[in-house]
Amino acid sequence: MKKKVTKAIFPVAGLGTRFLPATKSVPKEIMTLVDRPLIQYAIDEARAAGIKEFIFVTSRGKGALEDYFDHAHELENTLRKKGKTDLLQKLKATNMDSGEIAYIRQHKALGLGHAVWCARRLLSNEPFAVILPDDVIAAETPCLQQMVEAHAELGGNMVAAMEVPDEKTSSYGVLDIKEDMGSVVSVKGMVEKPEADKAPSNLAVIGRYILSPDVMGHLNRIKTGAGGEVQLTDAIAQEITSADNVYGFRFKGQRFDCGSKAGFLQATVAFGLAHEELRDEFQDYLTDLGSVRNAAQ
Ligand code: G1P
Repeated sequence: MKKKVTKAIFPVAGLGTRFLPATKSVPKEIMTLVDRPLIQYAIDEARAAGIKEFIFVTSRGKGALEDYFDHAHELENTLRKKGKTDLLQKLKATNMDSGEIAYIRQHKALGLGHAVWCARRLLSNEPFAVILPDDVIAAETPCLQQMVEAHAELGGNMVAAMEVPDEKTSSYGVLDIKEDMGSVVSVKGMVEKPEADKAPSNLAVIGRYILSPDVMGHLNRIKTGAGGEVQLTDAIAQEITSADNVYGFRFKGQRFDCGSKAGFLQATVAFGLAHEELRDEFQDYLTDLGSVRNAAQ
């Protein structure tokens, strides 16, 4: 029987410089996508996939993130007294139980691989998930759940994957495909942020991973890679030589790069249009906007 994936690492130590000045005092992960902070989307996705322990790799200035997961007793009492049960439910859905959540500091910004390695002592000898909250994925079946289901059959290491335009490969980890089986590909190599002419394919790694504990061992040993950082991609690639079990998973869903302003805006529009309370009003607004634009042209 394959071991269940019950722990997830959320690397959230980044400075969020692309969103300055907003991120001067607010962690990027607390920025609001419609009515929930970015991190809540990642947590909800993890829970849906059966994750029970949430490990945050943080850094200085992320206090608001830790506070967000605390129980807000005063606020809850006030809402209870006022009979605002709907709001109370919404608030309670964000609470974490004691012991469910752990915070580890990454003391130096040495890269994604290093951030994940910082959590090594909180894992035992079992597969674990990594979720990059910047990558928000709208999907009928949440992306990590799709991957957990595929992982239950295949085991090994699995990364979410998506085709990107050739000129974008330099922003991603890119897969060298051994065998393409449709929704799953087996992988014979992985390169971090290759220029288009060096990219082995245009199948890019998106921020969802299910990794074998051996990857932590590789992270113990590897040196800095692309951009002078310790790359998670390089540690996973070592699994190909030692165990030959790395898979790319073409998830069903739409991914938004909320690490960029344009991606954040696109996600805001998409999630606004999908939001029960806002859908109609927002749709009307966008339709009106479209006709004003067309009239002006
Ligand atoms: C990270 C990973 C990269 C992956 C990307 C997905 O890069 O290093 O392999 O393709 O996330 O979003 P970052 O965007 O942190 O530079």
